[in-house]
Amino acid sequence: MTESGSHHLLIVWHSKTGNTEQLKDAVLEGARHEEITDVAIRCLHTSEAGPDDLRWAHGILLGTPEDFGYMSGQMKDFFDRSYYEVEGELDPLPCALFISCGNDGRGAVREIRRIVQGYPFNEVQDPVIIRGEITDEALERCTELGMALAAGLEAGIY
Ligand SMILES: Cc1cc2nc3c(=O)[nH]c(=O)nc-3n(C[C@H](O)[C@H](O)[C@H](O)COP(=O)(O)O)c2cc1C
Repeated sequence: MTESGSHHLLIVWHSKTGNTEQLKDAVLEGARHEEITDVAIRCLHTSEAGPDDLRWAHGILLGTPEDFGYMSGQMKDFFDRSYYEVEGELDPLPCALFISCGNDGRGAVREIRRIVQGYPFNEVQDPVIIRGEITDEALERCTELGMALAAGLEAGIY
């Protein structure tokens, strides 16, 4: 999905059983807040996202479940398919993470951080880690995260 706007926000997400997808929907809702008018959004499943999307982006949100103390295999695949392709090309991209997990989430955050510092992406918001059930409060946190990234890009804060 591409909309018009001079600031470009990329959302890359993966979900196996739908929880991270719900978080993604909330992030997207926040990023599309009616008062944010000059931000174009590309919201892509990991299987659709690649190096050209990173070249397009001015900021990035990454959403994944935690699987075996790591990011999902598909999120890792996105990194595998794009890291060297954009090496040396990107200005540091402001970044934030949203994670769905059973009871931990720290492993996914830690390992994503290890990878993204190389692109480089700069984490500009604390990660949102949602443990267990997706509650209204969880969705609200994700909406706020999406809004924060989009508003920050538009305002030139990031
Ligand atoms: C293969 C597999 C491995 C998992 N490993 C972890 C884990 O290491 N830590 C954790 O907190 N949750 C773990 N979970 C739970 C998922 O992170 C959790 O169910 C999450 O909400 C799934 O998100 P999704 O619906 O977007 O796929 C695992 C789930 C699966 C299926």
